[in-house]
Amino acid sequence: MSTKENLKYTHHVLLVDDEPSILKALTRTLRRLPCTLHTASGGPEALCLLEESRHAFSLILSDQRMPEMDGATFLEKSRKFYPYASRILLTGYSDLEALTRAINLGGIHRFLSKPWEDDTLIQAVTETLQQYEVILENKKLQIMLSRQNQELEAKIQQRTADIQKQNESLSRVNQMLEDSFYSTVRLLASLVDRSAPELSGHGRRVSEMAAMLARHMELDAEEILHIEVAGLLHDIGKVGGTPGILRGNPQQMSKEDFQHYRKHPEEGQSLLQLIPRLDHVGILIRCHHERYDGQGFPNGLSEQEIPMGARILSVADAYDRYLHIPELSAEAVRLLSRQEDSTLDHINSQTLKRQAAAAKVKQDAFSRHDPDVVKALLDLLKNQGLGVKREKSLILEQMEPGMKLARPLYTVQGRFLLPYNTIITKEIMQRLNQIHKNEAIQEPIQILPA
Ligand SMILES: [Fe+2]
Ligand SMILES: [Fe+2]
Repeated sequence: MSTKENLKYTHHVLLVDDEPSILKALTRTLRRLPCTLHTASGGPEALCLLEESRHAFSLILSDQRMPEMDGATFLEKSRKFYPYASRILLTGYSDLEALTRAINLGGIHRFLSKPWEDDTLIQAVTETLQQYEVILENKKLQIMLSRQNQELEAKIQQRTADIQKQNESLSRVNQMLEDSFYSTVRLLASLVDRSAPELSGHGRRVSEMAAMLARHMELDAEEILHIEVAGLLHDIGKVGGTPGILRGNPQQMSKEDFQHYRKHPEEGQSLLQLIPRLDHVGILIRCHHERYDGQGFPNGLSEQEIPMGARILSVADAYDRYLHIPELSAEAVRLLSRQEDSTLDHINSQTLKRQAAAAKVKQDAFSRHDPDVVKALLDLLKNQGLGVKREKSLILEQMEPGMKLARPLYTVQGRFLLPYNTIITKEIMQRLNQIHKNEAIQEPIQILPA
């Protein structure tokens, strides 16, 4: 039989009947359950009790026939105060209309007929309270779940904010590292340019051409960056050398110079060892004079033994030298004229020089250069023209913020001011105008197109 063992909680139960004897009988029977019983002699009194009570009522049991307010009406009104409490109506079987109303409006859970059997009453009330306990536990679980969800949500938000903060500071640090990395590289490149004015821009042009070749050959982004930087710095080992060494034409070098010249790739590599992140760039620089046929220096490596980046540098370097060093350019043009029927007069001299430089590089495929890289150069020149950006020459007055230096900036006395690739800001403009008043800035200034 249903007893108090079947219930987990102590419940508050409200009993409503206008007949004191019935209230007494109900109280006497239900005292066997773990319940605190409250009584009211009619609907209005019971509603006052519900409104003022601080107890959470689990069950409201009401008689149907009462003079001031019938049970169905009272149970309906009680929902306002305790929407989740279980409701039982005590009524006669014949009172069908009241029962229907109580089910529809009062949300009753069951009804009991008068007179009742004590056991039936106990069982009905126990079962109803058990249902209420299930609802109660469900609600508790829901509350717990929603609290856990809120906590989880808050933790996720906090974690996301933390990660965002970490990312921001990481990208700030990265940006600082990148900035200092690139300005070190640019400054070193400017030093090369400064110590060899006849090769001014050589490093930058080799860097641009080598990067274009690397992209054309679909190398990965990191390798392209290494090649780009190595292009800028590939001849840094020549710094401090004689003009013969700087021009890099062995025919014009003394024996001593030639020995020194042969060391510039290794010296370039050892200079870069002092700068973190440039190890691989150092290897490319060391190998930029290796030849495909194994006749190069310093190690006589051949074919695939030479890193791909160095094979690319070698082609870009040779092409630039045949284009920009006057005696090499003239030699290349002479060679091309001999190869072609002497019908080159109609070609303008710049185009002729490019064709001649390309022809010279092509001639050196398989001996000096990797044929695949040479092919990439010829493809690029055919499809995209020269591809290297054309510079604009300006005087200081024509310069505006936002412009980018194509070459390093010096005063006429040769004092270094800014590395190339510097983007001119308002502040830099003001500073340059001030310097220009005391010590003229070397003009024209070479600017990269936007
Ligand atoms: Fe070199
Ligand atoms: Fe070079």
